[in-house]
Parts: sequence; structure tokens; C-alpha cells
Amino acid sequence: MITACIFDLDGVIVDTAKFHYLAWKRLAEHLGVEFSEEDNEHLKGVSRMQSLEYILLKGGIQISNEEKLRLATLKNEWYVESIKHIDTTEILPGGEELLKDLKKNQIKISLGSASKNAIAILNGIGLMSYFDFISDGNSTDKSKPDPEVFLIAAKGMGKLPEECIVVEDSIKGIEAAKVGGFRTLGIGDAEVLSDAEYIVKDLAQVSWEELNNWYNKTKNI
Ligand code: BG6
Ligand code: MG
Repeated sequence: MITACIFDLDGVIVDTAKFHYLAWKRLAEHLGVEFSEEDNEHLKGVSRMQSLEYILLKGGIQISNEEKLRLATLKNEWYVESIKHIDTTEILPGGEELLKDLKKNQIKISLGSASKNAIAILNGIGLMSYFDFISDGNSTDKSKPDPEVFLIAAKGMGKLPEECIVVEDSIKGIEAAKVGGFRTLGIGDAEVLSDAEYIVKDLAQVSWEELNNWYNKTKNI
């Protein structure tokens, strides 16, 4: 039986991935670097500083640590501005229903997000009370695909990695979960997330019962 789930936030529960994309695109263009949706796939799940490093590397730009901090802060200001009125309308399909279903079945729930803005967003969309534990961008400096953010989440719930399903929309996040020994549910495009064990379009496509059946059937494979 599953006993715990760890949810990524951006692009899984809430439709903020598009705002991250727009803010990074704006910053990249500000630096004269082209930035496509394909580039953005590499940044999903990746920390703010690591994302900036990707853009600098792509543009062959070398700057001081102080300047890096200034640019990362600028991107974050644009991002925070775009989500300042965030509310329940930005919750992705099935998000609240699945959290409710899991809670009803006594499943422990943790966040496992790279974002330092996670708590503000969860409060903004009114879903904070579903979470037993928060592991986010303030919990560790290690960026996915390092599994640290998920390991902190599992420990915070008193669970082992193999007892937890990690729910992720990013390639780096699925990779992190697999490295950490977690079960994986990919949310989004099956071609992009082909490394996930189980993939659905959005959270409206799964219930606690389906997740539990899948977990039990595939546990020792
Ligand atoms: C992840 C997003 O959840 O958080 C990334 O997928 C983002 O796009 C990262 O860069 C860090 O977010 P923040 O809010 O701390 O800049
Ligand atoms: Mg995500």
C-alpha cells in the first residue's frame, strides 16, 4: 500500500511553469541570448542559480558572482510580479481533488519543490493545509537531479524513499527521484517524461485507488 506522496509544485499542482518560462526568456533576451521552449525543458525543476548558469553558458557569458546574484534577483522580481495575484484559478486540473483523496485515505503528503517561492504560492492557492511537510528551495542548495529535496521530504514524513511516490513534471525531477530510490509518477507529455514509471497528462487522470493499485502491482519489479 502506498503511504506517502511527494509533490513537485510548479507545473504539477499549479500553473506557474509558464511564468518561470516567461521570466527566464525575458532575462535571456536582456542578455542577448536566444531562449526557446526546448531550452526551458532543461530548466524545469532546476534551482534559480543553476537555471541562470544554463543561460550564461548558452550565451558564452562570464560574469562575477555578484552580477549573477543581481541577475537571479532580477528574474525573481519579474517572476514574483507575475504571480502576485495568484489564486485558486491557477491550480492545475485534478490538483485539489487528488490531494483531498489522498488525505481521506491517510496518505502522508509532502512538497518536494526547488522553489524558494513555494510557501507563498501554496498559501496563495489555498492548498497549504494538505501538506504534512514542506521541502523546498530553502531546504537545500542542491538542485534536481540531485535527490536531496526528496530525501528531506521523505525523512520529514518518517518514510523510506521506496514508500513514497514522487509526482513530477520535469525530466530533472524524475531523474532525481529515480536516483533517490523513489517511485515515480510523471505529469505531462509521455515522450518528454519517458523515464517515469507511470505517466499521466494531469492529476485529474489519477485517483488514490489507481495509484495504490499500480504501486502494489509493480512494487517488486
Ligand atoms: C522549480 C521550477 O519548481 O523551481 C523552476 O520548475 C524554478 O523553473 C525553480 O527555477 C526555482 O524557483 P524559484 O521560485 O526559487 O526561483
Ligand atoms: Mg515542476
